[in-house]
Formats: sequence, structure tokens, C-alpha cells
Amino acid sequence: MPTDTIPVLTIDGPSGSGKGTISRLVAERLGWHLLDSGALYRAVGYAAGEAGLDLSDADAMTRCAETTKIRFRDPKDGGETRVIVNSHDATDELRTETAGAAASAIAVFPGVRTALFDKQRGFRRAPGLVADGRDMGTVIFPDARFKVFLTASAEERAKRRYKQLKDKGLNVTLAALLREIQARDERDAARTVAPLRPAEDALTIDTTGIAVAGVVDAVLLVVRPS
Ligand code: DC
Repeated sequence: MPTDTIPVLTIDGPSGSGKGTISRLVAERLGWHLLDSGALYRAVGYAAGEAGLDLSDADAMTRCAETTKIRFRDPKDGGETRVIVNSHDATDELRTETAGAAASAIAVFPGVRTALFDKQRGFRRAPGLVADGRDMGTVIFPDARFKVFLTASAEERAKRRYKQLKDKGLNVTLAALLREIQARDERDAARTVAPLRPAEDALTIDTTGIAVAGVVDAVLLVVRPS
């Protein structure tokens, strides 16, 4: 199958909108590949931090994005996908709020985004791809056949993140998470390159108050209308 005919479903939205969970479940249901593009930005931010680089130095961050080796490894036992950064399993470190903030900070640099462009496009493989991110439908796969934009109120997103992190045993407060989410939204939406916004042809789904299964069904309907 020529690459540009392989179906892509893009799922964009702000952090905490449920994109990660929904994308994984939808990919499983469709039997399609999954691209967690946020993990790539997190991996670059993490590698830069490990190397003691200045996260506000655009050239250094671009070089870091160009040279960092990122691999996704599917678990044999049905557990979660592991992310290997420069041969270190950094899955746990990448999940933290610090890694999210670092990712958001380095994601503003055009050089970083260019360095990750081809890598992301390379995930388009048969029988299909679910691409989770901020600019999947606008920049990386503008020709995707199916596009969804997930939103939820900042309060609801902070609550979800709080529960997620608490379940993982991390020590966080709801107020701090809400502030962090609002700051990240602002930075992701205000940057000049690939800002967070729905593609014109995306279907926006507000997930506030909707259970995961309901959102999964709504997204699946976009791909397979009944
Ligand atoms: O989805 P996430 O929380 O793992 O993403 C972390 C940060 O990475 C997010 O705040 C902005 C950046 N990002 C991006 O700029 N473009 C993407 N396609 C995915 C993530």
C-alpha cells in the first residue's frame, strides 16, 4: 500500500484531555499503530536535562532533537509501551510533570519540530495509524482521513491528572496541577510554530463529564460510521 493511502486518525488536544488513553484504546480496537508524539518531545527534553543542557538554547535543543535516539518497545506481557531514550528505559521519568514542562518548553523551537517531523511521519504504516498530539491534524498529517480534537475544561483535566499521578504514587496537589495545566495550555496555544488548535476539518469532542468508553465510541464512529 503506498504510504499516503494508509489511513490516519489524528487525535489532538490539550494535556489532560484524555488523548493518551483514548488514542491507545482506539488504536487497539482498530488494530492500528499508535504514535504518542508527546513522548518524543518529552524524550528530547529529558535527554537535554540529562546532558545538563540549557533548555532555552534553541540551537542546543535542535541538535539534541537531531541526535537523541528514541525507540518505543512493545511489552511482551501486555503492559505499557516502554520508551527507550539513548538506550536507557526512561518510561517512568517521562511521565512526570517535570518532563511534561520540559517537553512544552523545547517544543517551541522550530528546529526541534523539524528534527522530529520525519520521525513522526515514519509511523504511518499499514493497516493504519492513530496519531496522538498537538499538531497531528494540522502539521504532521494534514492529509489524514480522520481528525478529532479532544477538549475538556481545565478543572476536569487537572482532576484527571491528579487521579492518574496519585494512582502512580506521586505526590502532587490539585491546585498546582491546575496552574501547571493552564500555563502549559497557554504556552502550547501561543507559540508561533504549530500552535495547539483544531484542524479546520477536525471534529471537536468535549469530553468533560464523559466516561472513557463513551469517548472511545464517539471517536470510533468517526472512522467507522454505523
Ligand atoms: O501530550 P504530552 O503531554 O505528552 O506532550 C508534552 C508536551 O510536548 C506538550 O506540552 C507540548 C509538546 N508537544 C507538542 O508540541 N507537539 C506534539 N505533537 C506533542 C507534544
